[in-house]
Amino acid sequence: MEKSKVTVPFVKNSKGIKKIVMVTAYDYPSALLSDKAGVDIILVGDSLANVVLGYKNTIPVNMEEMLHHTKAVRRGVERALLVADMPYLSFHISKEETIRNAGVFLKEGGAEAVKIEGGRKRIDLIKALVDAEIPVMGHLGLTPQSFHQLGGYKIKKEEELEEEDFIKEAEELEKAGVFSIVLECVPKNIAKKTTEALKIPTIGIGSGNFCDGQVLVFHDLLGFFPQKKYKFVREYAKVGKTILRALKKYKKEVEEGKFPSDEEAF
Ligand code: KIV
Repeated sequence: MEKSKVTVPFVKNSKGIKKIVMVTAYDYPSALLSDKAGVDIILVGDSLANVVLGYKNTIPVNMEEMLHHTKAVRRGVERALLVADMPYLSFHISKEETIRNAGVFLKEGGAEAVKIEGGRKRIDLIKALVDAEIPVMGHLGLTPQSFHQLGGYKIKKEEELEEEDFIKEAEELEKAGVFSIVLECVPKNIAKKTTEALKIPTIGIGSGNFCDGQVLVFHDLLGFFPQKKYKFVREYAKVGKTILRALKKYKKEVEEGKFPSDEEAF
């Protein structure tokens, strides 16, 4: 295992030196394995809603659920930087409520930073959080919490995205104090120019190889749900198939009286 603890300054200083590796995790075992593999950042993503809790999108997941899972992940992480995702409505009501919710992630959940979806609209909130000593990761491009506002998960093509304005928005986030920005499903040429324009690292998902780092959802990269394969996901394993095969074998062997054997009994 890599030795030194990953901190916010470490992530910022990694730009141009090493690619940042980020993965989501939602519980103790996924955190333990991700940390052991040496990933730099573990995000308790609000994708918890879809991949673990079975909701259709990320809107329903709340602070209580996110905090519960952040605490579990905390117990499994030693080296990686632990970032908690601010769920929908945890930062939309007031500055005070935003600071309180983000602070709870640090104070009770053991997170070391929070992530907030959205651009310009969030500038004042980002400044307020940074003033309260809470490190913030930005998130631009496809923002799943805008699901209803946009009428679904809308990925913008290069010609549909105002390139200059997008880069300017990223720069405004940087100026407000974010220590890195997730670029989700941003056309790769625009992700490249954004990455070049910023002093802080970009972490891409579906945004090409020019970003300073990459993030994938734990269950996607391990192939838990083979029926849900996204263009930007590379499956490094087919865990879903392996689990299903094992469960079917267990069922068969119990039904046939082959499990347990004499050796497996007291
Ligand atoms: O919730 C999540 O998993 C995320 C990543 C896709 C960055 O926000």
